Amino acid sequence: MDLPVDGTAYLCGPDAFMTAMRELLVSLGFDPARVHSELFGGVSAINPGLTGVVRKTPHLPAGPAGPGPAVTFARSGLTVPWSEGYPSLLELAEACDVPTRWSCRTGVCHTCVTPVLSGHVRYAPDPLEPPAPGEALVCCARPREDVVLDL
Ligand code: FES
Repeated sequence: MDLPVDGTAYLCGPDAFMTAMRELLVSLGFDPARVHSELFGGVSAINPGLTGVVRKTPHLPAGPAGPGPAVTFARSGLTVPWSEGYPSLLELAEACDVPTRWSCRTGVCHTCVTPVLSGHVRYAPDPLEPPAPGEALVCCARPREDVVLDL
């Protein structure tokens, strides 16, 4: 946190840190309009296996089927034709209520790393560091051909 002489606070850090610091500064009388924040490190992660979370059964996404390669979510028992209307495999999985893990959604944190059981993916944008062979960062990946993901 930086407190320059103009009375503006600049927060930079993870989501939970910035929320706590903003609340602290406001409780100390700081003008909320003068607290600026920049997310660093991604938003809070969604993790499968959490208790108390109501999960929907995975299903086909709403709308017409895409013309692209088949994307199979093996653990969910679901195969969906890819549509370029989805920015990433992660967003397709979410549209199908397939449980996922993610944080940054930009190819930086590797929270979304997923085993690719068959097929290959392409990236847009390219991740900061590629995952290990046989894995994909689904937040920035699209299918290059029919793929089977361990989701
Ligand atoms: S969610 Fe961070 S790399 Fe995919």
